[in-house]
Amino acid sequence: MQVVVLASQKGGAGKTTLAAHLAIAAEAAGDGPAVLIDTDPQGSLSAWWNTRQAETPALAPSTIAELAGKLEALRANGYALAFIDTPPAITDAIRAVVGVADLVLIPTRPSPHDLRAVGSTVSLAQEAGKPFVFAITQAKPNTKLTVQVVAALSEYGAVAQAIMHDRVDYAASMIDGRTVQEVDGKGRGAAEMAALWGFVKARLQKSTKTRKNAEVA
Ligand SMILES: Nc1ncnc2c1ncn2[C@@H]1O[C@H](COP(=O)(O)OP(=O)(O)O)[C@@H](O)[C@H]1O
Ligand SMILES: [Mg+2]
Repeated sequence: MQVVVLASQKGGAGKTTLAAHLAIAAEAAGDGPAVLIDTDPQGSLSAWWNTRQAETPALAPSTIAELAGKLEALRANGYALAFIDTPPAITDAIRAVVGVADLVLIPTRPSPHDLRAVGSTVSLAQEAGKPFVFAITQAKPNTKLTVQVVAALSEYGAVAQAIMHDRVDYAASMIDGRTVQEVDGKGRGAAEMAALWGFVKARLQKSTKTRKNAEVA
């Protein structure tokens, strides 16, 4: 099982939205089963999941203290992927969550404020020795700002080529416990999420390979 942690110090960056959508995208691509874990005391991901009709992806309740043990149990139960949502902060609790990650995904809006705040989340991943990638979220189409933000983030690390655009569908679909893919499987949002999952998957494979090589060396 591989563990993706969604982290960013900024609230509203898209952590919860991406956790849900990537779990659906991964399962649709045949890479599941996926399990969601909500470590944000606000509980937005759990609240979304509770309004869902569909049985999958699963949601596993866990405290931070239980997390490592819980992940072992989920692994033993055959889950292929875990997506962990976190609160918008830099705390010891988030440090502990990042500690169990195979990959830290940092959603970032193309804004100067988000860009300035990204350093502390990057440091968090680096201090834990974890690979991290950026995903641009809520981007307006064809704006110079997005290009500038991608360029600036590239100085820190890899940026997903798949950009999540600002679409009402992302918010609207989650009202009744769904995702954009489940509302319109052939829509642009669904295509964005399939592409983003492809990128994340490739990065997970890369980080596993690097870790295995390190173990052999
Ligand atoms: N690509 C998007 N387009 C439009 N609205 C979005 C998009 N991504 C997220 N949102 C909305 O922005 C708000 C913040 O997103 P959320 O995933 O809750 O961020 P976080 O978990 O990082 O605080 C939510 O209301 C969500 O519905
Ligand atoms: Mg959230």
